[in-house]
Amino acid sequence: MIAFEGIDGSGKTTQAMELSKRLEEEGIPNEVVRDPGGTRLGEGVRELLLHRSDLIIRPLAEFLLFSASRAQLIEEKVTPMIQAGKTVILDRYFYSSIAYQGFGRHIPIDEIESVSRFATGGLLPDIVFLVELDLDTAMKRREDAGRQADRMEDAEIRFFKDVISGFKECARRDPGRFVIVDGSAPIVNISERIYNDVTNRIKNLAEERNAP
Ligand SMILES: Nc1ncnc2c1ncn2[C@@H]1O[C@H](COP(=O)(O)OP(=O)(O)OP(=O)(O)O)[C@@H](O)[C@H]1O
Ligand SMILES: [Mg+2]
Repeated sequence: MIAFEGIDGSGKTTQAMELSKRLEEEGIPNEVVRDPGGTRLGEGVRELLLHRSDLIIRPLAEFLLFSASRAQLIEEKVTPMIQAGKTVILDRYFYSSIAYQGFGRHIPIDEIESVSRFATGGLLPDIVFLVELDLDTAMKRREDAGRQADRMEDAEIRFFKDVISGFKECARRDPGRFVIVDGSAPIVNISERIYNDVTNRIKNLAEERNAP
């Protein structure tokens, strides 16, 4: 189970897809799932959360909707895939809730963690790639890709800075699981590095399992 985290436009989806392709080429069965989303219910929730600008969604409700989508994703897709021996690649996971709803929207972090543990059955990824990128570059990339071209207000800049420090804090507290990658490097350099980390990790896991 591999998760990608990082701010909007940092390159998570790009790297998740690259990794999936390379694992596929090596004959390692895998699937990319996005959070929120990944199931019919989750995609409905995703639509509510990300594309319904007519709705006012308060931070707590927002967090619980993300969690509901995540609970469905784990039960309906991730657990069965893992049981079938597939590698699951998550495009975001609950660390995003810690960073966005916790550090960004100031919901207490311990509450986010305990609800997230409940929603996911405590399922943790073997490895989390945190794609780090400065805010200006991330926003520029999203604009170039034709998304959210409007200028950010001060409050929004403050928010994203808090989100960035939230991700940093997640990585600092769980160094055995997190790998920080420099999202400003060329796409192929990043994907090469990620692929090497993943194959090493798979090798180590196999050795641990075979150890007496
Ligand atoms: N290393 C890179 N160098 C330059 N451009 C990149 C790099 N990685 C991704 N991009 C481009 O930046 C844009 C955003 O990338 P991507 O969609 O992968 O980010 P994301 O983290 O998934 O964003 P979101 O959180 O909005 O889903 C895309 O147009 C992508 O092609
Ligand atoms: Mg994406």
